[in-house]
Amino acid sequence: MIRVASDFNDMDLKSILEIQSECFADSLQSENVVRKLLSSTFVYITDEKIVAYVQVARSKNLSSLFEPYTYTVGSISCITLITNIAVVSAYRNKGIAKKLIAHVLNLAKNKLLFENANNYLGLQVREKNPAKYLYDKCGFKTIGVLSNYYKNGENAIAQIIDVNQN
Ligand SMILES: CC(C)(COP(=O)(O)OP(=O)(O)OC[C@H]1O[C@@H](n2cnc3c(N)ncnc32)[C@H](O)[C@@H]1OP(=O)(O)O)[C@@H](O)C(=O)NCCC(=O)NCCS
Repeated sequence: MIRVASDFNDMDLKSILEIQSECFADSLQSENVVRKLLSSTFVYITDEKIVAYVQVARSKNLSSLFEPYTYTVGSISCITLITNIAVVSAYRNKGIAKKLIAHVLNLAKNKLLFENANNYLGLQVREKNPAKYLYDKCGFKTIGVLSNYYKNGENAIAQIIDVNQN
C-alpha cells in the first residue's frame, strides 16, 4: 500500500529517518527538513511496516539545465522534483521504487501534485548511482550533466519526464 506520510503518525517520521540513514549515509536531510516534507512524501507499506518512500518538492527557481522543458507561470517556472527515493535493502529489486514513481506520475497526471507543477517531474542523480537505471526504466530522459556537482567531484545527471506523454 502507498499513502502520503503524516506528522500525526509517529511511525512515519521515525521510519523515514531510519531508511534515510540506511540509504544515504553521506547526504542526510535533517529531521526538521524530513518533517516539513512529510505532506509530500509517499510511503510504501508492506509486512505492516514502511519499507520505502519517495519525497517530492515543488521547484520554483529552475537551473538553466531544465529550461527547454519547463513552462512559465507568471515569472516562475514550475516543476515537481523527486528529491529522494529509497527502499530498504531487504526489499529491493521487487519493483517497489517503480511503483512509488508510478504513483507520483499518476498524481501529476491527475493534477494532484503541486499547483502549476504537474506537467513535468525532474530529478538529479549521481552519475554513478545505479538508481539511474531505475529512472531510465521509468521513462526519465537525461537533459544535462552538472559537472563536479557533488562534494567528491562526481557529476550529477539531470533527468526529466513529461507526465502527459507517459
Ligand atoms: C535505487 C532504488 C530506489 C531502487 O529501488 P528498487 O525498489 O530496488 O527498484 P525496482 O525494483 O523498482 O526497480 C525498477 C527497475 O529499475 C532497475 N534497477 C533498480 N535498481 C537497479 C540497480 N541497482 N541496477 C540496475 N538496475 C536497477 C530494475 O532492474 C528494474 O527494472 P525492470 O523494471 O526492468 O525490472 C534502491 O536501490 C535504493 O533505495 N537505493 C539507495 C538509495 C538511492 O540511491 N536512491 C536514489 C537516489 S535519490
